[in-house]
Amino acid sequence: MEVLKVSIWRGDAASHAAGVTVYDVPRHDSQTVLDVVTYVQRHLQPDLSYRYACRVGMCGSCAMTVNGRARWTCRTHVSKVAMDGRLDIAPLANLPVVKDLVTDMTAFFDKWASAKGAFDGERTRHDPFAVVAPDTPERRAADAGIECIGCGVCYASCDVVQWRPEYLGPAALNRAWTLVNDERDVAGQARLRAVAGDAGCHSCHTQGSCTERCPKQLSPTTSIAGLKRRVGRAAMKGEL
Ligand code: SF4
Ligand code: SF4
Ligand code: FES
Repeated sequence: MEVLKVSIWRGDAASHAAGVTVYDVPRHDSQTVLDVVTYVQRHLQPDLSYRYACRVGMCGSCAMTVNGRARWTCRTHVSKVAMDGRLDIAPLANLPVVKDLVTDMTAFFDKWASAKGAFDGERTRHDPFAVVAPDTPERRAADAGIECIGCGVCYASCDVVQWRPEYLGPAALNRAWTLVNDERDVAGQARLRAVAGDAGCHSCHTQGSCTERCPKQLSPTTSIAGLKRRVGRAAMKGEL
């Protein structure tokens, strides 16, 4: 039987004890990286901590660093990433580790709030539904970024986040861009102000690691470029 050599980073925030443990995992057809981690936890290391929920690429909770790159693990096939029968698995970068492969996503989601990533409408349940035309440039721009699952792969891949921990990061800015283009939302000016500061869109260097690695094929880089243009225009008009 073919066997994978799987190195898994283990440690926790409390003890600061950390290291890599190597496991032998049986190889199967169509095996995902999440299948491998699950095998280790169920058969070899019952106290291994990791996180997943849907296993089908919807919940965004299973992202880890696999052979040096952030990826969603439930839809990453071992055959695509194993090098010479080896897998190195570690927690996502740019986030504090809770334990083993589990990171603390608090800062990631706090930044969505800082970028005003929540929809702010004015209609009530008693008003008729808003009718949004499907083919306007704004609707298309919003559609292009809306399928984000909050996995954190882009955030872990962004070197500006690494250098400047206060930087809002690609996912929060991508979310802000979808809302700036949502004609039902009424917080546009406040949102542009929220992303215009030092920690906002102008810190992005546009090299595109986020876009290259996003498992949903979104382009936070394009969204951030859109925010830069919109912020610049608003600043010229004295609206910020
Ligand atoms: S393009 Fe911008 S947001 Fe994306 S990884 Fe680079 S600096 Fe980060
Ligand atoms: S933009 Fe892509 S990589 Fe970033 S959190 Fe959303 S789905 Fe994940
Ligand atoms: S387990 Fe839900 S996206 Fe991977």
